[in-house]
Amino acid sequence: MAEARIIDGKAVAERVRASVGRRVALLKAAHGVTPGLAVLLVGTDPASQVYVRAKGKATVEAGIASFEDRLPAGASAADVLAKVRALNADARVHGILVQLPLPDQVDEAAVIDAIDPAKDVDGFHVINAGRLATGQAAMVPCTPLGCLMLLKETLGDLTGKRALVLGRSNIVGKPMAQLLLGAHCTVTIAHSRTRDLAAEARRAEILIAAVGKPEMVKGDWIAPGATVIDVGINRITGADGKSRLVGDVAFQEAKRVAGAITPVPGGVGPMTIACLLENTLTAACRQAGVAVPADPGA
Ligand code: GUN
Repeated sequence: MAEARIIDGKAVAERVRASVGRRVALLKAAHGVTPGLAVLLVGTDPASQVYVRAKGKATVEAGIASFEDRLPAGASAADVLAKVRALNADARVHGILVQLPLPDQVDEAAVIDAIDPAKDVDGFHVINAGRLATGQAAMVPCTPLGCLMLLKETLGDLTGKRALVLGRSNIVGKPMAQLLLGAHCTVTIAHSRTRDLAAEARRAEILIAAVGKPEMVKGDWIAPGATVIDVGINRITGADGKSRLVGDVAFQEAKRVAGAITPVPGGVGPMTIACLLENTLTAACRQAGVAVPADPGA
């Protein structure tokens, strides 16, 4: 059999970002509204600093106003909550992202709860989780939204497809399952306590791997021709002693069986930031009470 088509997340993300940029320009011209995104980073976690820098750059490139706030690693919960409340009240800010993880002394759930749901561009607030689950207009978490875009790019209509979501986190697994249900898939959620993961995986026409375990999904877990979306980003040390990034799927084996598959890096990763910009545009339009402009370049 031919090898799987490699799904180019970087190319799709570039198209989405360019489209956001054109629609932001239209929103400014028609309504005088410049979308604003605030990112709050607490502490000095190196991976978080890399993400925050990348987000800031992409934000500016799309014509969105970028606000960056930093608090020291020793900041108290009260300091973080005060900052979130100030951003809630700032009319220039339409989207708020508090970079996770937070230091141990700060309760993440309390911080997410304090974000105005209308500005919750991460889609982590319980109001947005509930709206997504009940089919109402929600802010949708960026990573699963990006996965859905890649699936639609690859397969078109998803109606009736058998989908397996491996992983049940609030950030990826659960919202992913909701989005697939909304797209009329038959959805199974599997996790570390699932009795026979491999057997469940083999039944899936769409397989989303979001477990955070390097190369856990083997080639013989995949149904021939299935579409595989790999959300994992794991840094491992290879046999040569060099560090490299791998997904949750054993890519070399999987691509011999799958019909289409996302690589790591260059698959889901670039889509997350693109969807953050899309969510910021959506949030700004909703807050201004106007429709999201149609893309003249689409
Ligand atoms: N840390 C790693 N990924 C994310 C994300 O998508 N959103 C936030 N807020 N923090 C993260």
